[in-house]
Amino acid sequence: MNKITIAIDGHSSCGKSTMAKNLAKELGYIYIDTGAMYRSVTYYAMQNGMIDSTTGHIDTKRLQAAMSDIHISFKFNPETGRPDTYLNGQRVEDKIRTMDVSSHVSPIATLGFVREAMVAQQREMGKSKGVILDGRDIGTVVFPDAELKIFVTASAEIRAQRRYDELTAKGEQCNYDEILKNVQERDYIDSHREISPLTRAEDAIVLDNSNMTIPEQQAWLLKLTKEVASASE
Ligand code: DC
Repeated sequence: MNKITIAIDGHSSCGKSTMAKNLAKELGYIYIDTGAMYRSVTYYAMQNGMIDSTTGHIDTKRLQAAMSDIHISFKFNPETGRPDTYLNGQRVEDKIRTMDVSSHVSPIATLGFVREAMVAQQREMGKSKGVILDGRDIGTVVFPDAELKIFVTASAEIRAQRRYDELTAKGEQCNYDEILKNVQERDYIDSHREISPLTRAEDAIVLDNSNMTIPEQQAWLLKLTKEVASASE
């Protein structure tokens, strides 16, 4: 089967990364979690005192100057069978998934100089075929020529519940209403920002997975990938 580029875009917490990780494992593809990259920049900014924790104000001057010192990479973790995120050589996989990072990441992802740096790294990492990327602008900006583009969505309430279950399973104290508010706020910022807003590429296939199980989504995506890959031979 021909190797292709797969772009999965969509709202936050709608299971894009689970779908992408599982498919990558099944097909031996490289998986690039672009949300993890914006989260890593946010974590870096927080760690270096560039975000005021009360007002949320970002010191964009200092962050812009530091961009060339921010290196993000992924390393396969044989224990989980999935890639972990590294920031300047330090494993940050769990640190970037906290509510604290989630509540600051959208404003960071609106900054033009951050997007420019991340898109360049994503294009470099995904330049060979046999890659699957998930994010908001993969099919529209990063790889507009991807052979397969999927746009995933689900209701905000269902996505908040999924994130609540995920955080609770990790032992993090959280509140459903707060998570729902965060999901809605991120939807708004991601869809209304000036640069690369979350929009469906015209040639993307829409998947509303509100009422689908993970195995159902997997089967759907695998079938579609095989069809598209065979057609591209
Ligand atoms: O998918 P996620 O929740 O981990 O993404 C974190 C944030 O990063 C989210 O608010 C949107 C932003 N993001 C983006 O702007 N562009 C991408 N390609 C991926 C994520």
